Amino acid sequence: MEERFPKGFLFGTATAAYQIEGAADEDGRTPSIWDTFSHTGHTLNGDTGDVADDFYHRWEDDLKLLRDLGVNAYRFSIGVPRIVPTPDGKPNEKGLDFYERIVDRLLEYGIKPIVTLYHWDLPQYMASEDGREGGWLERDTAYRIADYAGIVAKRLGDRVHTYTTLNEPWCATYLSYGGTEQAPGLGAGPLAFRTVHHINLAHGLMCQAVRAEAGGKPELSVTCNLQVCRGDADAVHRLDLIANRAFLDPMLRGRYPQELFAITKGICDWDFIRDGDLALIHQPIDVLGLNYYSTNLVKMSDRPQFPQSTAASTAPGASDVDWLPTAGPHTEMGWNIDPDALYDTLVRLNDDYPGMPLVVTENGMACPDKVEVGPDGVKMVHDAERIDYLRRHLDAVYRAIREGTDVRGYFAWSLMDNFEWAFGYSKRFGLTYVDYETQDRIRKDSFMWYRDFIAGHSAR
Ligand code: NOJ
Repeated sequence: MEERFPKGFLFGTATAAYQIEGAADEDGRTPSIWDTFSHTGHTLNGDTGDVADDFYHRWEDDLKLLRDLGVNAYRFSIGVPRIVPTPDGKPNEKGLDFYERIVDRLLEYGIKPIVTLYHWDLPQYMASEDGREGGWLERDTAYRIADYAGIVAKRLGDRVHTYTTLNEPWCATYLSYGGTEQAPGLGAGPLAFRTVHHINLAHGLMCQAVRAEAGGKPELSVTCNLQVCRGDADAVHRLDLIANRAFLDPMLRGRYPQELFAITKGICDWDFIRDGDLALIHQPIDVLGLNYYSTNLVKMSDRPQFPQSTAASTAPGASDVDWLPTAGPHTEMGWNIDPDALYDTLVRLNDDYPGMPLVVTENGMACPDKVEVGPDGVKMVHDAERIDYLRRHLDAVYRAIREGTDVRGYFAWSLMDNFEWAFGYSKRFGLTYVDYETQDRIRKDSFMWYRDFIAGHSAR
């Protein structure tokens, strides 16, 4: 691909607070639901984010990595329990100072700060330890998170280029309350719809809070990980309603799809929606973020599957959908590689929600990275598969742009290896290798490749 991306196109990388920061109990931070989840045996090898990449102490060097990459944007999240560590919701100045320093350094480097306000680290005090009470089951959580968003926006103001309200609400609801994969891991199936509505409400309230505090200049955004399904049209449609349009339609159209109510009849009565909620959720936003990694293959089965498979438990209302194995190749996560589906999804979003600019806020691959030591003692990681993955997905983005879809940016997940949630440190997504024993950073081949790609494909 020789072509250059449009002027102003954002090339970046992404991270999230709990996955990189460590310093779990420093400067006033208190536990989040992910500290609890990881400390109670729900992650591989019992891994936790206590230390992670120690970014809290090494941020200056890590931001230099970004400068060396030549990115013009960096997407990172604010750790909620650093900002509002106590139930009274009072701002913690030390937490705010930390993120302010990051924002200012990024600006010095000419890198646009793209802030995610909620990347899953709900303060533990907002929920019971077992997750059965409070958290996103409670409407009040939406209001508390909006207050927190206002505190952040007041301090960081218009130095932030984009405020993203939520990261992957599908994970924070269906996977966390419907299924057991993510904190708090309730496994309560249809109860997840309640959390879906409350997180949608949080999105709208956060938009209002940010606008009120930071003014009209920063962009407002939300990042969704659409479940991109292939297979039987009926099954694909069913999952699209539950997994995708349950968020996109209220946020971007101001209504839930009627069909969603129809297919969940008998398992959810949606009585938690109050008058005026849809208007609150439907706030004007400037850009829609899409996290894209892979696709699912589904078909309608003849009868409901009981007990539901793990995948199905995260899609209550689709118990009559079978999840089939996808064709390879697969990444270390077991996810299939399907760059065409990224192209299709961008085009589809552009058609269905016209006039909404898009950004690919995450894309990347976990590989079995190994450190090799060259004759001169230099440590290297040859991750040719990752380079191929990134190249093909960037090509898909470029094709979508060329054919008229308004895509404004692309963020590789991730700047560096980090705590991959329930998979702990076993999965490496970084452009930079992290040696967790020594905290050494080693630039992988993909780091150099992405640096050259950006230099060669940014508008002149
Ligand atoms: C989605 C999430 O936003 C991020 O936290 C996670 O590490 C990556 N995808 C990879 O699974």
